[in-house]
Amino acid sequence: MKKNIWIFESSIDFIREFYSIIQRNQKCFYIIDTEVYNLHLETIKKLLNYELSHKLIIRLNEESKNFHSVNRIYDFLLNNKANREDLLVVIGGGILGDIGGFVASSYMRGIKYINIPTTLISQTDSSIGGKVGYNYSNVKNAIGSFYDPEAILIYTDFLSTLPKKELINGFGEIIKYALIDSEDLLVYVEQHIDDLTSLQPRVISYIINKCVEIKENIVEKDFKDMGLRNTLNFGHTVGHAIEIDSQYELSHGEAVALGILVALKLSEKKLGLDERVFLRIKNLYRKLDLKLNYCIKDYRKFLKTIKSDKKNDDNMRFVLLGAFGDMTIKVVVAEDELLWAIKESIEGDN
Ligand SMILES: NC(=O)c1ccc[n+]([C@@H]2O[C@H](COP(=O)([O-])OP(=O)(O)OC[C@H]3O[C@@H](n4cnc5c(N)ncnc54)[C@H](O)[C@@H]3O)[C@@H](O)[C@H]2O)c1
Repeated sequence: MKKNIWIFESSIDFIREFYSIIQRNQKCFYIIDTEVYNLHLETIKKLLNYELSHKLIIRLNEESKNFHSVNRIYDFLLNNKANREDLLVVIGGGILGDIGGFVASSYMRGIKYINIPTTLISQTDSSIGGKVGYNYSNVKNAIGSFYDPEAILIYTDFLSTLPKKELINGFGEIIKYALIDSEDLLVYVEQHIDDLTSLQPRVISYIINKCVEIKENIVEKDFKDMGLRNTLNFGHTVGHAIEIDSQYELSHGEAVALGILVALKLSEKKLGLDERVFLRIKNLYRKLDLKLNYCIKDYRKFLKTIKSDKKNDDNMRFVLLGAFGDMTIKVVVAEDELLWAIKESIEGDN
């Protein structure tokens, strides 16, 4: 794993590492998610215990992941005279991480920042790999850049206050990692379901560590997302279209989990994936409380979304799986094949 990513189970180690990164007399500008601030005040106070600090407590969601929020953070930095020697500290989930990282990449042509992710999605996925940005004109993450933080500090105890829906959100991404790598992570998750759902620290650290390692390995080879990094989108093309079809009633993670089931069926048809993998994953979903079924409400719009996905051209192209760790990107899929896979996976009688 990269030298600048740390995972902590102990608050003492986490706080100590944080202060070891900050240089003497360096001003710190904290942007903190409101929920995290309120729910983890004791820990946050320890991080803020720094005389040269300014803080902005902020509540964001997918609608406010936009340039108004970016501007609000620029104002906070400008009004407090932040300059290029200073440090931005971003404490929150994937939305704040993406926005804060974007601000760091652009303010004064780039300032240093530390990312402290606090959700399962951000600890396993979004904080890694340097993609930062925000939504524009109804297009998710339309504006952005690639910009790595100075450090990513993952403190697993933040997860203890996550609502169940947000945890389930993260499980979908964990399953994705378990499929795109060797079978080891999947076997580990299958053997530690109760410990995973109850966030047993050792088990959760192990799983986060594995996900980070898998993502790091891919990103290292394709930082700018020109090919291999597409494998991280396994299940996402259909997942994203389901998220929109459900009018965001389903969370991103729930929708991606359903997208994975469709992608597994397509993988059987197009790449000869062993059909026992699909059954195994469905079994895991039941235990993790992930949804198994979904009926597409508006097929015409659903297909349009898939075709206009930024990773697709005129053909519908999918990332598919031949076997554990054996991914093929840009597999062309015909409309009737996709509809068949949907019927067989998520619209069928599961
Ligand atoms: N940059 C990338 O590579 C990448 C990858 C995947 C996802 N993403 C982005 O990540 C975003 C989703 O991230 P997310 O799922 O973390 O959502 P989020 O940031 O909205 O956080 C979810 C909710 O949990 C709350 N929260 C955060 N930490 C908490 C804690 N410890 N306890 C209680 N509540 C807490 C937040 O206030 C928020 O309401 C999306 O915008 C997506 O585009 C980016």
